[in-house]
Amino acid sequence: MTSAPSSTAARERDEQVASRSAYRAVIERLSKASVDKHWEPYRDIPWDDPEFQVDQTDPRWELSGVDRLGGHPWYLSRSPEVRARIGLWRVATAMKIGLQFENLLKRGLLNYAYRLPNGSPEFRYVYHETTEEAHHGMMFQEFVNRTGLPVRGMPGPLSVVAQVAPWIPLISTELFFVFVLGGEDPIDHVQRRLLKDGRVHHPLEETIMRIHIAEEARHISFARHYLRNRVPRMPAYRRLLLGIASPVILGVMARIMLAPPGPMIRRFDIPANVVAEVYLRNPAARQEIRDSVGKTRELCAEIGLINPLTRRIWQLMGIWEDAAPSAPR
Ligand SMILES: [Fe+2]
Ligand SMILES: [Fe+2]
Repeated sequence: MTSAPSSTAARERDEQVASRSAYRAVIERLSKASVDKHWEPYRDIPWDDPEFQVDQTDPRWELSGVDRLGGHPWYLSRSPEVRARIGLWRVATAMKIGLQFENLLKRGLLNYAYRLPNGSPEFRYVYHETTEEAHHGMMFQEFVNRTGLPVRGMPGPLSVVAQVAPWIPLISTELFFVFVLGGEDPIDHVQRRLLKDGRVHHPLEETIMRIHIAEEARHISFARHYLRNRVPRMPAYRRLLLGIASPVILGVMARIMLAPPGPMIRRFDIPANVVAEVYLRNPAARQEIRDSVGKTRELCAEIGLINPLTRRIWQLMGIWEDAAPSAPR
């Protein structure tokens, strides 16, 4: 009678050891991949190639259907030059907000790494990721500079609030990696859709997007494995708090990443009813926000962060999808 529990306990210990060594193997593989396949913006992008120069009126900047403003009659009735400038403004703003998010992210990663013990496999990987994000920041800012447009990133008050993000790892490393996915997943989702929209892209934009997607795949993979490894072992009350905070962070982050830039609306006098039709009252825009966090939502369901209470918060934040196949009912 007593042998069953102890053999069960032994089996559970074996499984834990197996899953921990599998996790460690993933981290080491990601670190090796960072050495084998990475890019440096001032070595690998031919910024001064005539083909890579940025002309604000280049028709390749015109918005595609991926951005719903691109299909609106107001947009289509602008001159080709204005359409191109609006499209370039949109791309440059996404890169500016992206580099601000990644600046917060790098500081948070370093705060996380600061406390890691000797021999931790995460230490090396996190330094690789921080290095890659430093390259992304330079790459995005160089692009913004070359557009010659006075784009701004996050709105001022939001930027002030965002300064707490690098300190999240001191409270909860799990919450920090939910924040990481909250920024990286929507950017990745939009960049992948843009590359697949069947249009000819400016070679500079295309090169930057391809480099970014390739390196971000590792960052997203690390955050997901980290959460899969850690969350199931958290005490129940901490897991509940994480389950409550996650949809709030993800809902806010997706909107920051996908929202139309205010200075662009003012500069081009985009009428309020057009903004409302395209971005606010548009079911497709709301679906886009839900889709952009789809993979993270499935991950949260898989690791036990969704229950009837937290599902309600996902719904209130407008990022719940009833059809999510892996979500518990
Ligand atoms: Fe990045
Ligand atoms: Fe990243």
